[in-house]
Amino acid sequence: MLLPEGVLINGLTGEVSPDTGKYTKRLSELREVFQDRAELDRMVATEGDPVVYEVIEYKKEGSDLFFGTTTMEAGNVGGEYFMTRGHFHQRRDMGEVYYTQSGHGVLLLESRDGETRVVRMEPGVCAFIPPDWAHRSINVGTEKLVFVWVCNVEAGHDYGDILKRGMRKVVVDRDGADVIVDNPRYAA
Ligand code: 6PG
Ligand code: NI
Repeated sequence: MLLPEGVLINGLTGEVSPDTGKYTKRLSELREVFQDRAELDRMVATEGDPVVYEVIEYKKEGSDLFFGTTTMEAGNVGGEYFMTRGHFHQRRDMGEVYYTQSGHGVLLLESRDGETRVVRMEPGVCAFIPPDWAHRSINVGTEKLVFVWVCNVEAGHDYGDILKRGMRKVVVDRDGADVIVDNPRYAA
């Protein structure tokens, strides 16, 4: 029998206590994700391959739900803000919830038929991600962006389309403001 438990989440650092696993994504592992690969290579070589985000999870064997945090560093690659890989869930009938704890972000969503939606990620905003919408989070602020996610354990990740083709829109810095523009590399 699974037993209830309170899990402490630090909304400023993303620390989960207790946690059951974590991983870190560094810039060199996200080469396909950004437009300006020459600038990315330069940053990897000269800035010590910065961490872009860390994911920490709390998952109990036999449960239907799991949750955790994603903590994103502030930064950009040639003006394109640090972002996650972005994915559809393998299970097309399973959505997700993103509850922002600290920082400022953009949740970029794309439906199968190519509609784009944006939800601003601000402390206190709980974003509803419906089933079968691709989702990518982007840190457009100057501090860490920390959010709690809650998902079905069977949802899974389908990175294929987004890694290969990108999303239709990208979020870039223009004179300190975040703007959403067409992805110049998007190939339908
Ligand atoms: C999930 C969540 C979330 C996400 C991370 C990293 O489905 O597990 O959406 O935990 O995986 O924020 O984003 P990427 O998986 O797109 O790199
Ligand atoms: Ni997801």
